Amino acid sequence: MHPSLPSIPYHFSSTALGISVVASVLFSYALAKMLGFGSSNKFVVDGRTVVITGGSEGMGKAAACQLAERGANVVIVARTLQKLQESMEAIRGSAVNASKQRFHYISADLTKVEECERVISEVTEWNDGTSPDIVWCCAGYCTPGLFVNTPVQTLRDQMDTIYWTAANTAHAILKRWLAPITPSNQRPSPPKHLIFTCSTLAFVPIAGYGPYAPAKAAMRSLSDTLSQEIEIYNGSRAAKQRSRATPADVKIHTIFPMGILSPGYDNEQEIKPAITKQLEAADKPQTPREVARISIEALERGEYLITTMFVGDLMKGSALGPSPRNSWIRDTLTGWLSSLVFLQVIPGLRKQAFEWGRKNGVPSSST
Ligand SMILES: *[C@@H]1O[C@H](CO)[C@@H](O)[C@H](O)[C@H]1NC(C)=O
Ligand SMILES: *[C@@H]1O[C@H](CO)[C@@H](O)[C@H](O)[C@H]1NC(C)=O
Repeated sequence: MHPSLPSIPYHFSSTALGISVVASVLFSYALAKMLGFGSSNKFVVDGRTVVITGGSEGMGKAAACQLAERGANVVIVARTLQKLQESMEAIRGSAVNASKQRFHYISADLTKVEECERVISEVTEWNDGTSPDIVWCCAGYCTPGLFVNTPVQTLRDQMDTIYWTAANTAHAILKRWLAPITPSNQRPSPPKHLIFTCSTLAFVPIAGYGPYAPAKAAMRSLSDTLSQEIEIYNGSRAAKQRSRATPADVKIHTIFPMGILSPGYDNEQEIKPAITKQLEAADKPQTPREVARISIEALERGEYLITTMFVGDLMKGSALGPSPRNSWIRDTLTGWLSSLVFLQVIPGLRKQAFEWGRKNGVPSSST
């Protein structure tokens, strides 16, 4: 579903020296990280309650299973009851201690505000009156298509299913997490985590994703805004006079996968324009399990904007802008490397699009 950078392997020219220098610094840095510091787990899920929207298939389901393996109580939310029930079995089966961990599913349409409210209330009630500790937004599917060949209604639907499901969910949970409490009942509590699942298309758009990429870019912008806004509440906890402080720190994270093999991906391939398939030809889709594993490991390291493969890292490096960095050394070096690579990648993509038009003429809605 997400693009790759087909021209990277093939355009190894004058920038090669610069790239290899930066790459070797990156490599040494990664090695040092692997051998050493900062290894405390910043995403402890054992005994905590996690809500995963879009948890009945693909990456959401894989993440649910892996968090169950780490001792979490898991609630999955999706539209189709039957898929929820089937996935629940797999998730329950992944539990480390089935007699201690609890599992639940809720069928809901998260494009509707009141449904998101209901989900969070229902989970809170199920969780003995305490709001969930972690909310991971995985809901949403992709309808690729060239912009003018896509009905405007589809463009709006994509915004609803991608941006609004995430924004509605975030609104419903943050209202609860960020409500001030009186100091008397204030116990120290571990941080809450809100996780968005975005796409590398938010960094580097590709022709044929006009219905989808803008919604993902909006999600990334929401994430950056919230990561700053959350500091207000975090600050309230550091105040001497804590009469209006929030009960726990809140951490925002956003994940940027590329192609993920799933039933959704297969449907997407069927309607995807030929030029889009060509532009992303070198994208090697990852399995949901792999994407979930890499994401959870990055969450455990406390990362904010998370990519799941090296090409994704480069795309992020090219578009990091004002986003908070995971590591200023690695992100700055990747940014330098990306600015060299993208000198060739973007013109390469445009040239391929041009050549496609020269050969095939104006695309019809079936190409
Ligand atoms: C599983 O949880 C139960 C209830 O908390 C506990 O008594 C039991 O020792 C746990 N089993 C394992 C294998 O950890
Ligand atoms: C909030 O502030 C505390 C204390 O300054 C800090 O330890 C914590 O990491 C901050 N949390 C976030 C989400 O930035």
